[in-house]
Amino acid sequence: MQTQTPSAVYLDQYKPTPYLVSHIDLLIVLHPQKTHIESQLDVVRRTDAHGPLVLDGEGLVLESIEIDGEVLSEADYAYANNQLQIHAPPATAFKLKITQYCNPQDNTALSGLYLSNGTYCTQMEAEGFRRFAFMYDRPDIMATYTVRIEAPKSLPIILSNGNVLTHGNCDDEALHYVQWHDPHPKPTYLFALVVGDLACVNDSFTTGEGRNVSLGIYVEKGKQDRCAWAMECLKASMRWDEERFGLSYDLDVFNIVAVSDFNMGAMENKGLNIFNDKYILARPDTATDTDYINIERIIAHEYFHNWTGNRITCRDWFQLCLKEGLTVFRDQEFTADLRSRGVKRIEDVKTLRARQFPEDQGPLAHAVRPSSYIEINNFYTPTIYEKGAEICRMLHTLLGEPTFRNAIDLFFERHDGEAATLEEFLKCMADASGRNLSQFSKWYEVAGTPVVTVNSEYDADSKKFKLRLSQHTPDTPQQINKPALNIPISLALLARDGTHLGLHPQENEVIADGLFEFNSSTTTLTFPNIAERPLLSINRNFSAPVILRSDVSEDDLLLQMAIDNDSFNRWEAAQASAMRLFTEAYNGRSTNVAKFAQGLVATLSDETLDNAFKALMLQLPGEAEITVAMGSGVDAHRIHACRANVLYEISRIMLDKLLGLLQNSSNTGPYSADPKNTGWRSLRLAALALLSFSETSVALGLAHMEFMNAANMTMELGSISSVLQVKNEQVDQMLAAFYQRHSDDHLLVDKWFMLQAARANSALDIEVLINHPDFTFKTPNRVYALIGSFTASNLQAFHASDGTGYQILGESIVTLNAVNPQVAARMANAFRSWGRYDEARKTHSCAAMEKILNHRGLSNDVYEIISRTLNG
Ligand code: TRP
Ligand code: ZN
Repeated sequence: MQTQTPSAVYLDQYKPTPYLVSHIDLLIVLHPQKTHIESQLDVVRRTDAHGPLVLDGEGLVLESIEIDGEVLSEADYAYANNQLQIHAPPATAFKLKITQYCNPQDNTALSGLYLSNGTYCTQMEAEGFRRFAFMYDRPDIMATYTVRIEAPKSLPIILSNGNVLTHGNCDDEALHYVQWHDPHPKPTYLFALVVGDLACVNDSFTTGEGRNVSLGIYVEKGKQDRCAWAMECLKASMRWDEERFGLSYDLDVFNIVAVSDFNMGAMENKGLNIFNDKYILARPDTATDTDYINIERIIAHEYFHNWTGNRITCRDWFQLCLKEGLTVFRDQEFTADLRSRGVKRIEDVKTLRARQFPEDQGPLAHAVRPSSYIEINNFYTPTIYEKGAEICRMLHTLLGEPTFRNAIDLFFERHDGEAATLEEFLKCMADASGRNLSQFSKWYEVAGTPVVTVNSEYDADSKKFKLRLSQHTPDTPQQINKPALNIPISLALLARDGTHLGLHPQENEVIADGLFEFNSSTTTLTFPNIAERPLLSINRNFSAPVILRSDVSEDDLLLQMAIDNDSFNRWEAAQASAMRLFTEAYNGRSTNVAKFAQGLVATLSDETLDNAFKALMLQLPGEAEITVAMGSGVDAHRIHACRANVLYEISRIMLDKLLGLLQNSSNTGPYSADPKNTGWRSLRLAALALLSFSETSVALGLAHMEFMNAANMTMELGSISSVLQVKNEQVDQMLAAFYQRHSDDHLLVDKWFMLQAARANSALDIEVLINHPDFTFKTPNRVYALIGSFTASNLQAFHASDGTGYQILGESIVTLNAVNPQVAARMANAFRSWGRYDEARKTHSCAAMEKILNHRGLSNDVYEIISRTLNG
C-alpha cells in the first residue's frame, strides 16, 4: 500500500543481476497461517560483478539466513522495503539457505501462496513468488527446482512442477510428503504448488517423439464428470502443436488443477497449469457453447505456453507480449484449424474492437511494449494480448506460412532455454525471410489505433481506378507525432457479380498475392483497364488492426454484404452499414433501414453460408462500439434509445424470416460443442434477440418455451439473455427460476449475477445484489460477474446521468482495494471511457475517481489506473 507517489520501472534501465541462481531446493511445510519455507539457493557471482545480493520479499517473516552452513548475524543483512540485502556475499559459488514464513490464509490478493476452498495453491506471475519466499523474483533468473512439500494426510494430493522423485510419511505421523523435481530451468513466475483433497481424472498422450505423458485434471470432489471436454481439448492441443509447429511436450507428466478463486483465466506453470475452474468444468447442462469454446481456447493457450513462454521466456516484463502475443496468435490459429477459420477471424476482430480498441483510444492507451510501468499486473491488457497477437498475424501475413514457420524454428534454435527479447524474436523473423523489419518493429512502440483513410475514384473514359491511401496514428498519452507504420493491406477489386478483377497497378509489383504493404503516410495506386466501376474489398480478413475510413457508398456496402467472397469483409460491410444507421439515428437524421434489413434476410436465405456466420451477421454493433464511433459529448441514454429504435425497424421488416427460422423444428440430438451444433444454437438465439425488439410478446413466449424445454445450458441461459433487455416480469420470473434451479452451483450463480447486473435498472439494484448472501468481494469470478457485467453490459445504468453508477463502482473499488488490488484495478478500468460523455456525466465520474485517489492506503495497482485515467 502506498503512502507517497509510487515509483515506476523503466525499460531502458534494465540491468542484469550481479548474481545468478542456478538451482533451488525447497522444503515447504504447509500451515494455514504459518507455512514454513526453507529455501536453499545455489548462487554464483557473475564475472566482473560485485556488490551486495539483493533479493525480493514481500510480507514475509524472516527466520534465519545461512551461507554455506554458517548462520549470518543481523549485521550481515537487512530486510526493509520489500528487499533483503545481504551485504557481502562470497566471491565464489555458495549455498544460501533462507528460512521464512508466509500466511496463505490471509492472502486475499490471490498472489503468492493462498487457500482456495481448502486447497493450497499458488499464483506467482508476475511477482507473486516474493510473497512466498525471498528470491530474485524476475524472469531472467532461471533455475532448476527440487521441492519437498509436507502436508497433513487429510490433504492427499501434493503437486508441483516436473516429475515425482520420492514420496512417503513424515516423522510426524499426521504428515506425508512428496518430492518433485523439475529439470527444466525456469523463472520464479512459473513455479507452482497445489495441495488439497481433490479428485483426479487421468488419461495419457503419446508424443510424436514416443514419450508417454501421463495427464491429470484435478478438481473439487464430485466434479469429475465435468472434466471430459477439458481433457479432450488438452489432447487436441498436444496433437496440434506437433502438427503445426513441430513442438512436442517435454516432461512425463502434465497436470491441470481447477480452483474457484483465481484472478485471471489460467496460468501456464511448467507441467502444472492452474485454472480458474470456469475454464475447466463443463457438462452440457452446466456450461454454454461459449464456455466450451473458451475452455478449448484457454487449455490450448496455456499448453502452448510450454514452448512460447516456458522454454523461451521473457528477459523482463516489458517483453510480456513476446510470450502472450505469440501464444494468443497460436491459440487463435488452433481454433481456426479446428473450427471455421472465417468465423474465428470475425470473432477475434469483434474481441479486439470491443476490448483493445477502446483501450487504445482512451487514457490507458499504451504500446504493446510499454517503456515504463508502476504495477506490472496492470499490463496484462488486451493491448499486450490481442494487439500483440495481431502483430504476429501481420508477420505471418507478410512472410507467408512456410517462412513464418522457418522463423519460429530459428527462434527455438537460437533461444531455447533462454529469457529473450522482442528484438531477438524479430531478428529471427528478419533472418528467416531476408526482410528488413525495422519499420515494422514500430508496431511494438507506437500506441493508438492507426486510421487508414481510403478515397477511390473511377474514370470511365480512361478505364482507370485510383485509390488514395493515407495513414495517421492519433496522439496518445505521452506519445505524439507518430511515424508511418508498415501496414499490410490485403485488397481485391470485384466486379458487380463478385468475380475478381486482376490487380495490376501501374507501378507493377507493388501488389503480390493481393497484399499491399502500405508504409508511407500517403500513396496513390492506379489500376488501368478496369471496364466498370469496381467494388473495393480492402483490409480483407482484417489484415491489419486499423480503423478504416472509406468513402464507400451505402449501395456498395449493401452489395459487398451480398457478394464479397472474403467472409470477414462480407460481415464487415454489414457492420459498417448498421453503424451508419445507428449514428444517423443518433444525429436525428432519417435512415433507410429497409434495404439493409432485406440484405440480412437474403443472408439468412443463402444456403451456402453456415449458421455460425449467419448468427454473426445478425449481431449488430453494441452500445459501447457506437459510443466510440460517436466521438465525444455522448449521451448514453440517447445511444440506447436510438439503437433500440433502429433494431425495432430492422426486426419488423425481417419478421417473417425470423419467425420462420424460430419455428423450424428444434434440434433434438445429443449435445455437441462442434461448429455445426453451436452454429445452429447461436443463430436461433440471435434471431430471438432481434425479434424481441419488435414482437416483444411473441419473443417472450418463445424464450419462455425455450427456457422450460432447454436440453442444455446454452439454450437455458441463452433464452433468458436473448430477452434480457425486455422490461417484463416474465424475464424476472425466468431469472428467479434459474436461481432456484442452480443456487448450489457457484459457476451458475455467477451467471445469474451476470444477467442480473446486465438487466439492473439502476445502481440501487446493484447495491441490493452486493448485499445478496451469495455475493462476496473475495472471489474474483463473482466480482467480474456483478461489477464487471454492470460496467460492461449495462451502459444505461452505469452511465446514469445522476452519477449513481460511477458512485457504486467507486465504492466497490475502495472495498476491493483492501481485499484484492489486482481485481480492484481491473474494475477501475471501467472509468476509461469517462471523457467521451457529456459534461454532467464527466463531473460525476471525476468526483468518483478523485474520491478513490484520496483514499488512504490505496494500492499501487489502483493508483496507477485511476491516475492515468484522470490525467491521460
Ligand atoms: N500468464 C497467464 C496467461 O496469459 C496470465 C495470468 C494468469 C496472470 N494469472 C495471472 C497474469 C495473474 C497476472 C496475474 O495465460
Ligand atoms: Zn498467456
